[in-house]
Amino acid sequence: MHLPASQALVPELIVRLSSPSTNAELAELARAGDLPSFTTLVTDDQTAGRGRLDRVWVAPAGTALAISVLIRSAEISPQRLGWLPIAAGVAMTETIAASLPAASVGFKWPNDVLVGGRKVCGVLAELLPEHSGVVVGAGVNLSMTQQQLPVPSATSLAVEGADAEPDTVLAGYLGRLQQLISGYLDAGGDAETSGLAQRARELCETLGREVRVEMPGGRVLEGTATGLDRNGRLIVRDTAGAEQAVAAGDVTHARLAS
Ligand code: BTN
Repeated sequence: MHLPASQALVPELIVRLSSPSTNAELAELARAGDLPSFTTLVTDDQTAGRGRLDRVWVAPAGTALAISVLIRSAEISPQRLGWLPIAAGVAMTETIAASLPAASVGFKWPNDVLVGGRKVCGVLAELLPEHSGVVVGAGVNLSMTQQQLPVPSATSLAVEGADAEPDTVLAGYLGRLQQLISGYLDAGGDAETSGLAQRARELCETLGREVRVEMPGGRVLEGTATGLDRNGRLIVRDTAGAEQAVAAGDVTHARLAS
């Protein structure tokens, strides 16, 4: 892949012809060496991609980008790190929306990017040991045809008619991600002060919706998503009227009444 615009944006862009998992590979490099924040590892052939909640992430070779970005976040309190994957969802939403002005592009909490309600990008953030940083991984479906989509609820930039050129998508994403995360780190992890929280609320399609949340451990919560708290948790008003803050889970949106 030829990625000159992306290369110019980050301290180091590591491009692999193939990688088992860009998150795993970048985490290993970060453990072994002194890589700076925003070092990025990318491939269009990821063979053992990891998804959220211990799922796998699959894409035929050459049809999707797997992007992992190292964030050095030692000075940020662990409770606030939930904003990092949300920042990735915001950055990818804005990148895709720029080439699809007529479409509905947003993200489902915490960070699935949706075009017309179908998932085009997933995000997985993984903590490095000893508070030494976070690897923020994003998988975005670029040129997949309808037949190549892994599930009916997925889509790709090509299927939607968006710009699917790898360097354009990657540079758009990396540029915006760095702005959002640098602002958030400069504000000591305060996403309200940095503006990240406000932008996330504008683009989060979950807010205001009836939701079903399957939480790690199997508990299910149903109610209305009313907001994001200062740590990026989803606030859900349950059917008894009590507000609960959700840090991790799989959210399903109820259909909007038409
Ligand atoms: C999800 O389940 O929606 C999250 C998918 C995250 C996939 C990305 S691709 C780049 C990075 N490397 C991985 O192994 N996973 C993430």
